[in-house]
Amino acid sequence: MEAINTFLAIFVLLITLALSLSNAKIQEHEFVVQATPVKRLCNTHSAITVNGQFPGPTLEVNNGDTLVVKVINRARYNVTIHWHGIRQMRTGWADGPEFVTQCPIRPGESYTYRFTIQGQEGTLWWHAHSSWLRATVYGALIIHPMQGESYPFPKPNRETPILLGEWWDANPIDVVRQATETGGAPNVSDAYTVNGQPGDLYKCSTQGTTIVPIDSGETNLVRVINAALNQPLFFTIANHKFTVVGADAAYLKPFTTTVLMLGPGQTTDVLIKGDQPPSRYYIAARAYQSAQNAGFDNTTTTAILEYKSAPCPSKGVAAIKPLMPSLPAYNDTNTVTTFSKSLRSPRRVEVPTEIDENLFFTIGLGLDNCPPNFNSNQCQGPNGTRFTASMNNVSFVLPSNISILQALHLGVQGVFTTDFPTNPPLQFDYTGNVSRSLWQPISGTKVTKLKFGSRVQIVLQDTSIVTPENHPIHLHGYDFYVVAEGFGNFDPKKDTSKFNLVDPPQRNTVAVPVNGWAVIRFVADNPGAWIMHCHLDVHIGWGLATVLLVDNGIGLLESIEAPPQDLPLC
Ligand code: C2O
Repeated sequence: MEAINTFLAIFVLLITLALSLSNAKIQEHEFVVQATPVKRLCNTHSAITVNGQFPGPTLEVNNGDTLVVKVINRARYNVTIHWHGIRQMRTGWADGPEFVTQCPIRPGESYTYRFTIQGQEGTLWWHAHSSWLRATVYGALIIHPMQGESYPFPKPNRETPILLGEWWDANPIDVVRQATETGGAPNVSDAYTVNGQPGDLYKCSTQGTTIVPIDSGETNLVRVINAALNQPLFFTIANHKFTVVGADAAYLKPFTTTVLMLGPGQTTDVLIKGDQPPSRYYIAARAYQSAQNAGFDNTTTTAILEYKSAPCPSKGVAAIKPLMPSLPAYNDTNTVTTFSKSLRSPRRVEVPTEIDENLFFTIGLGLDNCPPNFNSNQCQGPNGTRFTASMNNVSFVLPSNISILQALHLGVQGVFTTDFPTNPPLQFDYTGNVSRSLWQPISGTKVTKLKFGSRVQIVLQDTSIVTPENHPIHLHGYDFYVVAEGFGNFDPKKDTSKFNLVDPPQRNTVAVPVNGWAVIRFVADNPGAWIMHCHLDVHIGWGLATVLLVDNGIGLLESIEAPPQDLPLC
């Protein structure tokens, strides 16, 4: 009898397993990258979009699904698409950063990205990873639990993705081109947007203002994504509280707050309850600006949280004017710290405790003295210099005729060197008054090699060179635990004891505190070439990036797949 029962139990288990496996779907999509007229702020621009949509299409999948996206480039620029936060286990060829994992898709060409979502749930997004195209080429990528599984919180009545963007009343490619020519800072944006719409506080924008629905007693799961190019943003709603439940496609221990801060690249999932008098309430976002003496877009974007039961405007009566929330001051770093220190994993997690690779990377800006063959028009940075940026004093230069991953795969020499410093070449008071002689980095394509399976810790240390700033540092191909953050110079002697090795949050982008540091840990279990960079696009262009090369392990399952047949070559 017992044997039969065991047999039956195993049988049922196998059937359920097979069913859950077969539940995983393959989703096919076509992304046509093309110029599309988009009218904002009273003017129409020919913006680069996907399928004529701005923002681009929302992809919704279940954990375990496979996405197959054919990207067809009908625009006049090179393009690639990056699936921000997707781990790309063994499928690094589908990651997307131009000249890191592939050459760009040239105008008229196409490339099919193929990858499987493994063990990730929540909100991610996709965006172009070439020049400043992501200003208009981006969309949400929502990962639901596997079919038959549920959220670790009561099922919300509705869900709304909110993409915060940044809009130039100009061609963003021209904006960055001009900055590259002059060596100065690029023009700041003219508006922030919520799902592509600036909202009521901008000229010619009221008509399109984004409406987020809710009803009395309902819960709306709002998935906030900071897709802005260059600006960390505060986000709030009048009279409503957020219950934060996730970030970067990892669940969090729920906590309540009235304001979020998201660096570009970061996502935050919040529950909003319809517990206020039925009416209209502004949702608002504006800059968190930590850099000093730098211009920034100080406008405010709004959307409207609208109760379905809110009194309708009758003939001749205007709609109720929404209630405006108060936002933190632009430089309110305290609010940012309080918010980021509230993030915890829901339960004890497996953080590496022994470390094989202990890395210390400074991150910050710099100034290049005007090169002898440049004229003064090309050196319009502070005091006749050109802006630059670096990690460990290396300003990263992308290859231009092969990708790093291809060079690695084919054994092509001379594309990169593996001598990226594990520590700053010179130790100094990083957040103090740094001698001008240390403001000019060297440039190069220097990478760090990591053994498969190595347990890695990276201390990310801001510098005050030119200006201290909160840098959103994003690592491709990995999620990492943020075990600590703080201000001033990281001190291993006194700061190590404060590490949270119990329930630190898991992220793919960490907003490193202005004039401070953050410590991340992960296991290098995904072979490939993974760029780590500041997600302020202006800083990528200046070289605030590096690449981690993770070796294959043993056997097929620990090795990167073969490159796809249609991988764009240079
Ligand atoms: Cu969302 Cu390399 O970036």
